[in-house]
Amino acid sequence: MINIAIDGPSGAGKSTISKAIAKHFGFVHIDTGALYRTVALYVFENNINMNDEKSVAKALENIDIKVAIEEDLQKIYLNGKDVGTKIREPNITKMASDISKLKIVRDFLLDVQRKLAKENDCVMDGRDIGTVVLPDSDVKIFLTASPEVRAKRRLLQQEEMGIFENYEKILEDIKKRDYNDSHREIAPLKQAEDAIKVDSSEFSFEQIKQKCKNLIDERLKNGRI
Ligand code: DC
Repeated sequence: MINIAIDGPSGAGKSTISKAIAKHFGFVHIDTGALYRTVALYVFENNINMNDEKSVAKALENIDIKVAIEEDLQKIYLNGKDVGTKIREPNITKMASDISKLKIVRDFLLDVQRKLAKENDCVMDGRDIGTVVLPDSDVKIFLTASPEVRAKRRLLQQEEMGIFENYEKILEDIKKRDYNDSHREIAPLKQAEDAIKVDSSEFSFEQIKQKCKNLIDERLKNGRI
């Protein structure tokens, strides 16, 4: 199977770019942040104390996550129910960052992610795909952008989903989340040594898409697979 890893901080455009790249190459797009968000949703809806490892371990035993690819889009079923846009609410966003620090949660999702990569030609986006989940992926891209540019993009994205927030608050949240994600002990957000860095701050979506497509074409042509 061909596996392409796209990592980077929140709001760098990973999801949009990964989706477009996957469509272009006829691969499946797997948004791993959505998996962390789904675990967070379960923890929230069931009032689980995140600080109590035993309770979290028990919760994980009761979580069944199914990822379905429907019309090229990833859909997540949590114990049989489509999670929809609930996982995008601000409280779940914050919680996903918190639960992603827990080893037990990361181990649980590691299996889910590796299984998906084994079964599908895919573009997988996240924070630790190139470093931990799929260290042997065929192409690794580290997509980043300045916090201000990411906050503006996030604001628009949220508005499209009917979630209205304030720019300053989003910027502050992004900075906090960057810190959280890159300072956690296990699998922190960091660029893999063999990843190619792409900074999207100054470029349009089309330009970044083209750049990533070219990078992937080049790697695939060079016989890495
Ligand atoms: O990409 P996102 O904003 O949907 O991710 C939600 C949270 O999940 C984010 O704060 C960090 C965490 N995450 C992670 O730790 N590892 C991944 N591979 C993907 C996401």
